[in-house]
Amino acid sequence: MVSYKELGLVNTRKMFAKAVSGGYAIPAFNFNNMEQMQAIIMAAVETKSPVILQVSKGARNYANQTLLRYMAQGAVEYAKELGCAHPEIVLHLDHGDSFELCKSCIDMGFSSVMIDGSSLPYDENVALTRKVVDYAHQYDVTVEGELGVLAGVEDEVAAEESHYTKPEEVIDFVTKTGVDSLAISIGTSHGAYKFTPEQCTVDPETGRLVPPPLAFDVLEAIEKKLPGFPIVLHGSSSVPQDEVDTINQYGGSLKAAVGIPEEQLRKAAKSAVCKINIDSDSRLAMTAAIRKAFAEKPAEFDPRKYLGPARDNMKKLYEHKIINVLGSNDKLEA
Ligand code: G3H
Ligand code: 13P
Ligand code: ZN
Repeated sequence: MVSYKELGLVNTRKMFAKAVSGGYAIPAFNFNNMEQMQAIIMAAVETKSPVILQVSKGARNYANQTLLRYMAQGAVEYAKELGCAHPEIVLHLDHGDSFELCKSCIDMGFSSVMIDGSSLPYDENVALTRKVVDYAHQYDVTVEGELGVLAGVEDEVAAEESHYTKPEEVIDFVTKTGVDSLAISIGTSHGAYKFTPEQCTVDPETGRLVPPPLAFDVLEAIEKKLPGFPIVLHGSSSVPQDEVDTINQYGGSLKAAVGIPEEQLRKAAKSAVCKINIDSDSRLAMTAAIRKAFAEKPAEFDPRKYLGPARDNMKKLYEHKIINVLGSNDKLEA
């Protein structure tokens, strides 16, 4: 049993309370490799932002849970080396799908876990989430649950269409499970194809697809039921069109990729939404820089010559999100 506290990590409790009262959101960036982790930490340190490093089941299988845990421990030391006296870094399991997976992460030094029972019948979701909470809270590890189903694929949890969270269920769910935060469904979804062209309108000036707005009425109804309770938004990549264009220009083929407009995320971050999950935008930034480097320097074969620009591009993206979208900059103790 390794306690996250020995690794210098923190759980989400205080961080979320400050974010909700301060009207901003904590970035939850997925990672599975060193360059992503370095870019996230450099961006968090330079902007003085708390940050959640999150690991999906797929990332854990790809990179190895033990290595990821040491990387998170390394991230704390790296942040200090970069001049951050009091880094606030959470190591979080994203979309845990079983009690055993959550337990394994808690035992290995994760400071926060998500148990995603959103595809289960309501009572089974409650029972599974409660079981994880009972275990996690013994070690002061915080737990995120989910109600409502996002469109697309949530790891192995598949849903054909989005089912918004039912505001009338949230009080019962939070009370019965004891979760520390709640992921909700208000129209976001995972990946780079969040809406079909048929669901969008076309901007006459740019010719770009404009997606339908998020269901802010559902968010407001949830906030009324649970005043001040930490709410989480998954599927919150904006799919920057300049990165999509760069990928397509240098041999990629991303057609009609569309994300959540940043002004909608800014609005959400000012509400009880205190954790915003971003993975796809980092993948796009990394891929765009690598494709460009390959095209411009075809004779180069030193990975540092393409992973370096990829890291720079991700860092720029993370800083932009922190400062211009989530508003979590300048929130660390000096
Ligand atoms: O929620 C999904 C995350 O973007 C993780 O995706 O399962 O491909 O690692 P992944
Ligand atoms: P995106 O695919 O929109 O980046 O969402 C990531 C996410 O929700 C991870 O849990
Ligand atoms: Zn997610």
